[in-house]
Amino acid sequence: MAQRVVLAYSGGLDTSIAVRWLMENHGVEVIAVAVDVGQAADSKNEDWDAIRKRALAAGAIEATVIDARAEMAEDFCMPALLANAKYEGKYPLVSALSRPVIVRHLVAEARRHGASAVAHGCTGKGNDQVRFEVGTRALAPDLEVIAPARVWGLTREDSIEYAAKWDIPLSVTKEKLYSIDENLWGRAIECGVIEDPWNQPPADVYTMTRPTAVEPTEVVIGFESGIPVSVDGRQLSPELLIAEVNRVVGSYGWGRLDMVESRRVGIKSRETYECPGALALLLAHADLEDLTLERDLLHEKARLEPRWSELVYDGLWFSPLKQALDAFFVESQRHVTGEVRLHLEPGQCFVVGRRSPIGLYDHGLATYDATDTFRHQDAEGFVRLWGLGVATWSAKQVAPTRGDAPQGGGD
Ligand code: ARG
Repeated sequence: MAQRVVLAYSGGLDTSIAVRWLMENHGVEVIAVAVDVGQAADSKNEDWDAIRKRALAAGAIEATVIDARAEMAEDFCMPALLANAKYEGKYPLVSALSRPVIVRHLVAEARRHGASAVAHGCTGKGNDQVRFEVGTRALAPDLEVIAPARVWGLTREDSIEYAAKWDIPLSVTKEKLYSIDENLWGRAIECGVIEDPWNQPPADVYTMTRPTAVEPTEVVIGFESGIPVSVDGRQLSPELLIAEVNRVVGSYGWGRLDMVESRRVGIKSRETYECPGALALLLAHADLEDLTLERDLLHEKARLEPRWSELVYDGLWFSPLKQALDAFFVESQRHVTGEVRLHLEPGQCFVVGRRSPIGLYDHGLATYDATDTFRHQDAEGFVRLWGLGVATWSAKQVAPTRGDAPQGGGD
C-alpha cells in the first residue's frame, strides 16, 4: 500500500496542485482535510462541498471538511482573550490562533488514516510554516512534515499551467489581488499594492469592517470569570458571541489595523487586519480587569501577556511555558465577572461604563463628597515612610555632590 499523507487543504490554487504534486513527487496517497475555523465570517460562507469535490478532482483519495468553529472559539480565542493577547501590542494573533487548531485535526486524521506525514501549503517566508511544523512536532514527533510550496519553485503562472495539465479545477473567483487568511477572530490581508508600506490600503481590502451603520449605539458585554457570555443580556456561546460582536462592531467600520510586523523568520512585513470582534472584546475584557483585579495581580499579568503572545505568534502554542502561563491566566480570572458598556459610532468603539458585583471599586473610598469613608489621617504617615528612602538618599548622596552640607537622613 502506498504511504499516506494528510494535507491541510484550503481549496485554493496552491493546495489544489499540492495534491497532485505530492502524488507525483512522493508517490503517496493524499487525504485532504479542510478545517472550518470561521472563514468568511462576513457571512458569504465558504462552499465547503465545492472545496471537498475540488480536492477529490485534484486526486485526493479522500477529502474531509471538519467544522472546528466552536473549538476555535472556546479553546483558542478564549485563552487569547484571557491573555489580552496582542502581538507587538497590536495584532490579536488571528492566524497564529487557527494554525494549532488545524494541526490538532491534521494529526488526528493522520492517525485515523495511518498516514506517515502531514503536508501544508505554506511558503518558506512566513510564520505559518513554523506554526504547522512546530505544532506537529509537539503533538506527533514521529510524523514527517512536507511543505510542497517551499520546494516546488513554481510561479503563479506555472501553478495555473500545472493545474491545467492535470485537469485540476480551480475556484472561479476573480484574479486574487491579496493573500487573505480568515477565521472567527479576524481577517489578515497581505500582498498586492499594500506590499508598499507607504501605500494606504484600498477600501476593497476590507470585508468585515465595511461601515453601514450610522446611528450611534451601545453594546453591553457580560463576562463570567473572564469569558464573555452575553451581548445585551442575551446568553451566547463563544462562537456565536464572537460572530455577533464581529457583525455589530464591524458595521461601524471599526476594528482595522495597519502595521509593519516582525515575522519569526526575520522579515518585516506590511500587514493589514480587520478584527472588529476580537479588538472590541479585548478592549472590554481589559477594562473589566482594571475594575476587578487587585493591583499587583493586574500589573504582573500585564508583564506576562506579551510573552504569551510571542510564544503563540512563534508557533509555540503546544509548549510548556505557554501551558503554564495559561494556568496562571485562568487563575487570575476568578473575579473577572461583570459587564462592560461599549459605545459605537461610525469609526469608533470605546468603553463608556463597567460594573461588577465583586469589583474592587469602592465608592466610599474613591469619592470626594460627604459619603467619604477614607481615613485621611493614615495618609500622612504612609507617604512619609514611602518617601523615607529617597529622602535619605537625597540627603546623604545627592546633596553633597551639589556642594551642600550633608544633612541628617529622614526623620
Ligand atoms: N502575518 C500574520 C501572521 O503571521 C498573518 C498571516 C496570514 N497569512 C496570509 N496568507 N495572509 O500571523
